[in-house]
Amino acid sequence: MKDLFGQALLDYHQGNYTEDLTTSTNISEEDELPLPYLFRSYKDMPKLEQNALQLAKGKVLDVGCGAGGHSLYLQEKGLKVKAIDISKGAIAVAKNRGVIDAEVLPVLEENETFDTILLLMNGTGIFQELSQVATYLNHLKSLLNPQGQILIDSSDIKYMYEDEDGGLWIDTNANYYGELDYFLSYKGEKELPMKWLYLDFNTLYTACTSVGLKCELVKEGDHFDYLARLS
Ligand SMILES: C[S@@+](CC[C@H](N)C(=O)[O-])C[C@H]1O[C@@H](n2cnc3c(N)ncnc32)[C@H](O)[C@@H]1O
Repeated sequence: MKDLFGQALLDYHQGNYTEDLTTSTNISEEDELPLPYLFRSYKDMPKLEQNALQLAKGKVLDVGCGAGGHSLYLQEKGLKVKAIDISKGAIAVAKNRGVIDAEVLPVLEENETFDTILLLMNGTGIFQELSQVATYLNHLKSLLNPQGQILIDSSDIKYMYEDEDGGLWIDTNANYYGELDYFLSYKGEKELPMKWLYLDFNTLYTACTSVGLKCELVKEGDHFDYLARLS
């Protein structure tokens, strides 16, 4: 990984904001991911994220913390928070913005236990593909204290396969439709391709049941997105 994502966060944080990240997927055209969005404060967060932050309690793990906005909000509310990310740039920014406990660490290598585990901004993306969901869910489950909870958001992206007449062009012989190849570029450089997973609620529910996690729908968003609570 070249960590272009982290480089972009560092640039923005250091006052060198000249352009946004460009993203695309195997099923969608290029789009811009505005850097200010990655530094959103509580009032600019989607309702689902605000909801997740209100439900957070006890000792919290913010998985894939990015610039650390969720962690900072909870830390300021008095909660004990650990923020982790695989991006060195992201962790440097999160620390510099005031996140006290922030570490470069892939979630599968985390081994402390927590009362709340947050995975936000398509939290299921980190699982990469359907075949890995059970591995990630089992690991996250092993990090929960008794009565602990996982708060995770995702979207049902079936709508991305709709043509102009409302027909769906999902290939039923292909892999699960929420498995995407994700491409990111910044300042003319291309990041290595990544796998990024969107899970519809029913598929998440089934996966949770198979690893012994209870899965509740907390809230649905405006655009096929939802927040779930696993316990
Ligand atoms: C879409 S960004 C979300 C950032 C932040 N949560 C937010 O809402 O602004 C996903 C983040 O997850 C991180 N990430 C990806 N795979 C990870 C893994 N296995 N363990 C920890 N972090 C990971 C990425 O580096 C990136 O910062």
